[in-house]
Amino acid sequence: MAGIDVAIVGATGAVGDLMRQVLLERKFPVRSIRFLASAKSAGKTVEFAGKRYPVEPLRPEAFEGVQIVLSSTPSAVSREYSPLAARAGAIVIDNSSAWRMDPDCPLVVPEVNAAQLQHIRKGIVANPNCVAIPLCVALKPLHDRWRVKRVVVATYQSSSGKGAKGLADFEAQLQAWVRGEPIPPPTAHRGQLAGNVLTLDWTLDTNGFTEEENKVIQETKKILGDAEIGVCATCVRVPVRVAHSEAVTVEFHQQPSVDEARAALRQAPGIRLLDERQGEVPQPIHAAGTDWTYVGRVRSDPSHPHSLCLWLVADNLRKGAATNAVQCAEELLRRGIVSPRP
Ligand SMILES: NC(=O)c1ccc[n+]([C@@H]2O[C@H](COP(=O)([O-])OP(=O)(O)OC[C@H]3O[C@@H](n4cnc5c(N)ncnc54)[C@H](OP(=O)(O)O)[C@@H]3O)[C@@H](O)[C@H]2O)c1
Repeated sequence: MAGIDVAIVGATGAVGDLMRQVLLERKFPVRSIRFLASAKSAGKTVEFAGKRYPVEPLRPEAFEGVQIVLSSTPSAVSREYSPLAARAGAIVIDNSSAWRMDPDCPLVVPEVNAAQLQHIRKGIVANPNCVAIPLCVALKPLHDRWRVKRVVVATYQSSSGKGAKGLADFEAQLQAWVRGEPIPPPTAHRGQLAGNVLTLDWTLDTNGFTEEENKVIQETKKILGDAEIGVCATCVRVPVRVAHSEAVTVEFHQQPSVDEARAALRQAPGIRLLDERQGEVPQPIHAAGTDWTYVGRVRSDPSHPHSLCLWLVADNLRKGAATNAVQCAEELLRRGIVSPRP
């Protein structure tokens, strides 16, 4: 069948696992596919479109003939292997944070800045942070109309943001907590998450912000293409399996009314606007397993005349990672940057 030769790197991880499902759901034209992970996964197999495939160890030769690499590994692995894949002729769509702030790598949310895909100088497209993606999906229609001046965001991030190990850690803690047994020591999270919230679940940077907070701050400006936007973030891990929530306060150069902002959000791609007056509010249990950025609780900020508050929720593994990456791959085809092989 005519299509694209694809490789999924990090195929055994939380994001890599979903990548298979998202490719199938979106009917991405796959001609051939390979699944790569660490040597630890040797002997494992995965299913794709009714066929079982071996998980192969990640080696430089693994990229021969591959057109698109969907990579979801730790940053250190990506720093080594994504340039090798690009050198072998593939375009890499990379979920790690390794390439996001590289000026030669576009940082793409297709609903926001797909045109950046015309400038892939290193053969690597960076997929943004899972908080920054839905934040920019929601800010884009507002920024286009009233220009964002400053964003203050507090996040409520799910355990799966720490990958398969994070989820396993949380499940073990949760079961012990519910049974009233001693909580097992954390292995992926940096403390007890069952019945608790953690604001230092990431490495602390020298500026007093965590690495996660600094990613949200820097990436939001790069995706929206406006270095003058002020961004401040507080990132918090909460006892939720999947989907990140964000409480956002946005100050604009010009003042939108709540109704105008709601109208702009309602028409924007990728957004489902919910109405709290009808009892609808974005919640992780509803967003998990979907590709929407759910937005609600849009209201005027009583402390500032040019400012609005809103609440948003999106699935961190799908729109925050796998779906966004597959959407980028679709854009590469649509723009003729990658062409199906017979
Ligand atoms: N989880 C999220 O919500 C999310 C969202 C956006 C971006 N990301 C980013 O996406 C990447 C993957 O995240 P994840 O949550 O899927 O993590 P994960 O569940 O821990 O999966 C990591 C994957 O990388 C593979 N890997 C690790 N070391 C390797 C090596 N030396 N060589 C080859 N493969 C190796 C693992 O293979 P083995 O199973 O063989 O070890 C596994 O397939 C990370 O950079 C993360 O920051 C995650």
